[in-house]
Amino acid sequence: MHVILLGPPGAGKGTQAELLAAANDLVHLSTGDLLRTAVSAGTELGLQAKGAMDRGELVPDALVLALLAERFDGAGPDTGFLLDGFPRNVSQAEALGQKFGEDAIEHVVHLQLDDEEILRRLLARGREDDDEAVIRNRLNVYRNETSPLVEWYRTRSVLRPIDATGTIEDVHDRVLRSLTRGTKA
Ligand code: AP5
Repeated sequence: MHVILLGPPGAGKGTQAELLAAANDLVHLSTGDLLRTAVSAGTELGLQAKGAMDRGELVPDALVLALLAERFDGAGPDTGFLLDGFPRNVSQAEALGQKFGEDAIEHVVHLQLDDEEILRRLLARGREDDDEAVIRNRLNVYRNETSPLVEWYRTRSVLRPIDATGTIEDVHDRVLRSLTRGTKA
């Protein structure tokens, strides 16, 4: 199974990705986690990515694709994966389609949450980029660059809209139900 988790910052992509990957034996690939690891390790790629991450902007596509390339190349044809935070714009979605084929993605789980609750959750978490001004910039970037993917995947009939309010367990149950029922937007 090949799944994408799509949604604004703080909607619960990472949290739900871990649960879903464990439930379905999928490889969980988070571009945010991969980038933060590169930054912590002080690699050349991490150094190039850090400024954009600190500002809440997207890291250039070439860096993100380079980071993912070795993970994708290490995957066999039957490896199931769950992409968390990728693709983040239409050109990344096109690159994914070219790599695996246009029909490779079976489900795009779209977590939906309002800005007020997003701010509450992220300010409570307090990651380095969870400063209020940076969160607002991440939300703007999501609206301008990432949200067109909702329509992109809706037209491909793989979009699964999910209400991301409530407890982590409630959201996980909704996600599982949407996959088994194949709920489409
Ligand atoms: P990334 O790491 O992907 O961050 P993000 O999209 O801003 O998402 P978050 O990790 O903040 O939130 P989430 O939706 O995963 O929610 P979570 O489960 O953590 O990206 C960071 C940066 O890297 C980007 O700004 C960009 O610079 C760069 N980047 C990454 N990918 C890129 C790409 N493909 N291209 C270019 N640049 C890229 O939950 C948030 C909090 O809420 C947690 O504390 C959690 O415990 C809590 N929570 C979760 N669910 C619930 C619930 N149901 N109830 C209460 N609390 C909950």
